[in-house]
Amino acid sequence: MDRRPIGIFDSGLGGLTALKELRQLLPQEDFIYFGDTGRVPYGARSPQTLRRFAMEDVRFLQGHDVKMIVAACGTISSILSGEGIEGLNVPFAGVVKAAAEAACRATQSGRIGVIGTSATIRSGSYERLIKRLLPQAQVTVQACPLFVPLVENGYIEEDNPVTEMVVRDYLSTFDLQNPDTLILGCTHYPLIAPVIRRMMGNGVTLIDPGREAARHVKEYLFSHGLQTDGKTGRTRYFVSADTEDFDGIAARFLGHPLECAVEHVDVDDLCW
Ligand code: DGL
Repeated sequence: MDRRPIGIFDSGLGGLTALKELRQLLPQEDFIYFGDTGRVPYGARSPQTLRRFAMEDVRFLQGHDVKMIVAACGTISSILSGEGIEGLNVPFAGVVKAAAEAACRATQSGRIGVIGTSATIRSGSYERLIKRLLPQAQVTVQACPLFVPLVENGYIEEDNPVTEMVVRDYLSTFDLQNPDTLILGCTHYPLIAPVIRRMMGNGVTLIDPGREAARHVKEYLFSHGLQTDGKTGRTRYFVSADTEDFDGIAARFLGHPLECAVEHVDVDDLCW
C-alpha cells in the first residue's frame, strides 16, 4: 500500500484522456496532473528537446513525491522509455506499448492505421511494436500535426466544420488501405474521437492510448502492492500557460467542472 499520488504529464490537454480513465479505474488514488501548455505542441520537436522536456516534467512531478509517473503522451513515449530519463526514481509508464498491444488484439484483417504527431510517426515506434507482435500486419501511418492545436484551442465539438475539414483531409490516407483498427496515437486525439469516428465509420475500432495505458497502470500498481484504499482520491492540476484556457476545455472534456483551481507553473522554473 502506498498513499502517495500518481503523476501524469503531457504537453497539454491530451493526458486528460488517461487521467479520466485512471480516475474511473482507481477512484481512491490521488493524482498530480501536469500539462506543459507553455511549450505545447511537443510533436514538432527534436528527440533531444523532447528528452529534456521529459526530464523537466518528471523532475516537477517528483517534486510532488509521486509513487509512479505516467507519460500520457504518445510523442514522449515514442522517443524514450523510463531508462532514458535521468534522475527518474519511481516506476514509469508510457502509452505506446499498451496501445499497440490493444490494436493487435482488436484487428481481424491485420490492417492497422496509426495517426500521431510528426515526431511519433517519424520515430516509427508504433509500426515497430505492431510488427513485432503481429508480423503479418499491414500498417499505414499518417502524421496529423494540426490536430493538437485544434484541441488546445477548443475546436472539439463533433460538428465543428474546421475540425471536420482537417480530419477528412488527413484520414483520406486510409481510403485505400481500409483498416479495421485505427490507433489514435496521440493522447490529444480522443478529444476529437467523435469526428474521427464519423469519418472512419462504425466498422473501425479506435484505440485510445490513454485508456489502454490506464489499464496497464492499474495492473502494475496492484501487482506491486502500490495501490491505496479507504478514501476518495483527489486530483491537482498544474499547467505552464494560462490556467483559464485549460480549465474550460478540460471541464468540457471531463464532463464536469474541475474540483479545484488549476495551478500555474512557470516554464522558467521547469528548466535546469
Ligand atoms: N498529447 C501528446 C501526444 O500524445 C503531445 C502532442 C503534442 O504536443 O504535439 O503525442
